[in-house]
Amino acid sequence: MADIAVIGAGYVGLTLAVGAASMGHDVTVGEADPDRVADLMAGHCPLFEAGVGDLLREGLASGLLTFTRSNTDAVTAAEFVFLALPTPSAADGSADLSVLHAVVEELAPHLGERVLVLKSTVPVGTNRDVTARLRAADCTAPVVSNPEFLREGTALADFMRPDHVVVGGDDAEATAQVAALFDPDCPVTATDPMSAELVKYATNAYLATRVMMANSFADLCEALGADIDAVTAGLGRDHRIGPFFLQPGPGFGGSCFPKDARALLDLAADHGLDVPILAAAVKVNADRQERMAEAVLAEVAGVFEPVVGLWGLAFKAGTDDTRESPALRIGELIADRGATVQAYDPEASVGATDDGTHGGQTGVPIVEHDSALEAATGADVLVIATEWPEFTGEDLTEVAEAMRGDLVIDLRNLLDPEAVGAAGLRHRQIGKPEQE
Ligand code: UDX
Repeated sequence: MADIAVIGAGYVGLTLAVGAASMGHDVTVGEADPDRVADLMAGHCPLFEAGVGDLLREGLASGLLTFTRSNTDAVTAAEFVFLALPTPSAADGSADLSVLHAVVEELAPHLGERVLVLKSTVPVGTNRDVTARLRAADCTAPVVSNPEFLREGTALADFMRPDHVVVGGDDAEATAQVAALFDPDCPVTATDPMSAELVKYATNAYLATRVMMANSFADLCEALGADIDAVTAGLGRDHRIGPFFLQPGPGFGGSCFPKDARALLDLAADHGLDVPILAAAVKVNADRQERMAEAVLAEVAGVFEPVVGLWGLAFKAGTDDTRESPALRIGELIADRGATVQAYDPEASVGATDDGTHGGQTGVPIVEHDSALEAATGADVLVIATEWPEFTGEDLTEVAEAMRGDLVIDLRNLLDPEAVGAAGLRHRQIGKPEQE
């Protein structure tokens, strides 16, 4: 078992930390936010992420997991120092590495021969750049790129049972040590740092593009009278394609796909290159959300003081994250055009504004409610924008009675069409004929 430091207690760093401690590694987490450190030390998990809270409390109880505000204290006993720091989009779409660079500068005098591992998703070339910065500060620590592939909502399961591990570094021994740390039986791609960094971007770019292909096929199904479920089932059974990431919906969002797509396009542009297929996926995604908002507004055109119920705010089920959420964006586009949007999400919210309504990304007010039924009450149209399983347990007869209108626009193909019809509601799905 190893001594590990993790710098950054976001969903990647915290998942890594609690997972590593549960395997018996000794883990110290450096986190700059004092409130977050206090919460974590008290066993309160600041994230809505399945299983992480339980392992946090186990790790604290066993003594294998500790938190500190001091990054330099965190690395004192460590053999491996993982950086899991935010790399948000800068205004031009590139990744903002200022936090990462500041931490590298802070740690350089304290690293010695410890292995520095970059978990954060960083532009290709960053690991070599970090190595150069360390060498300029007379630090000889090896640097290893070890990108994460954790999905929000299933981050811990993805960490504990990864499909594969990618490591890239110029020091072969350090690279092999990092690969062997957590799951020695996992398939490993050991390569140079640039290739390791690109695997991460390529994965997200590929998946984002694939999701948008499925969405385009769904549009075609609607126009042609075909059924997207049959089309994706057939596609997915071809082993060259596989069944995953073909679910149509309101498009992709979250903290990774949109940001990583922008960063990859920015990186390509820096080298005089274009990635037109990825650029198209980004555009199709944005257009799709506009089009979906338009389709909802078309249903309430002419209605006096229209009301739209919105089930879901999170960018997908299983998380409280609303970053670049299609649900939130569609809600805001509708509210911006003058309809009242009544939202309910089991975990996510859009953030309070001064007047008690909620601002989200654009400041357009969305009214939040405490239950799915309340959000549907008085609605002319009900939009299902996040695929929370609990929505399938709602009493649709009650919903139908509470609504002013009778149309459910199901952007996730979540509800059972027969149950919706039996409640006297019309059900519009993605890539399906409308049920009247
Ligand atoms: C993603 C990557 O999967 C993960 O490996 C990476 O490290 C972080 O980014 P995450 O952002 O948690 O994870 O979400 P993911 O489950 O990949 O979904 C991304 C977006 O695509 C969501 O908006 C989701 O709703 C959408 N999606 C996904 C679909 O619309 N259809 C699908 O079939 C799959």
